[in-house]
Amino acid sequence: MSTHNEVKRVTTHTLQWMKQHGEKISMLTAYDFSMARIFDDAGIDVLLVGDSASNVMAGHETTLPITLDQMIYHSQSVIRACQRCLVIVDLPFGSYQGNSKEALNSSIRIMKEAGAHGIKLEGGEEVCESIKRIVGAGVPVMGHLGLTPQSIYKFGTYAVRATEEEEAEILLHNARQLQNAGCFSLVLEKIPASLGAAVAAQLKIPVIGIGAGMHVDGQVLVMHDMLGITKNFSPRFLRRYLNLYDEISTATKEYIKDIKDKDFPNESEQY
Ligand code: KIV
Repeated sequence: MSTHNEVKRVTTHTLQWMKQHGEKISMLTAYDFSMARIFDDAGIDVLLVGDSASNVMAGHETTLPITLDQMIYHSQSVIRACQRCLVIVDLPFGSYQGNSKEALNSSIRIMKEAGAHGIKLEGGEEVCESIKRIVGAGVPVMGHLGLTPQSIYKFGTYAVRATEEEEAEILLHNARQLQNAGCFSLVLEKIPASLGAAVAAQLKIPVIGIGAGMHVDGQVLVMHDMLGITKNFSPRFLRRYLNLYDEISTATKEYIKDIKDKDFPNESEQY
């Protein structure tokens, strides 16, 4: 393997290779077939079927309501579209916190019913027993620390996490524990860039950031934010590559007008 572009299928080993060779990992969320096909064709390394589907697909205020069955439905659609990228699926809230057997059963459902390549779960030391059990069954696990949206009612706010030394130390400790438990990768959300850099430097596994600065091993964004479909969400870490809300809105208004004006369909658009 000399560059990741020659890779036929991205695996957890490819991501490890990228970290070792200083090649940054690109990751996006996806929830449906059509968008996943575009992202995979464009060469994205990892697609995450995030539980952010609860927000951007279902319109809930938090990620908490989405169910395992709903995550599996979204994942099946994404998996059908992907030929090259690694597809990781979030374990939703309530599907793994009970005990390690529950965590393993939920992971197995995602692997078997959706055909996913691995799972992601939130939390530190408290989920390590579950991670060991899931990895022991042959399922790759991605960790998630920092701002973990499933704990939003504990945090009470979406503000930057671990700005104080004590919380930063705990995060570093948890990151090491997740690596030791067998995680192949770790997502860090909304923490100071200096802490992101420290975690990426101390861990052997790839660290992928969302609002964790430039010195981590890769970046992830929610596709609706990256494409400008969401409008009233502008955290500092977000770079919008399109303004699709406005573009789709303009196109829809033109479509409505053409129908009302009896301009659509015209002679060449009918049988
Ligand atoms: O659910 C999600 O979209 C995520 C990303 C923010 C990493 O977990």
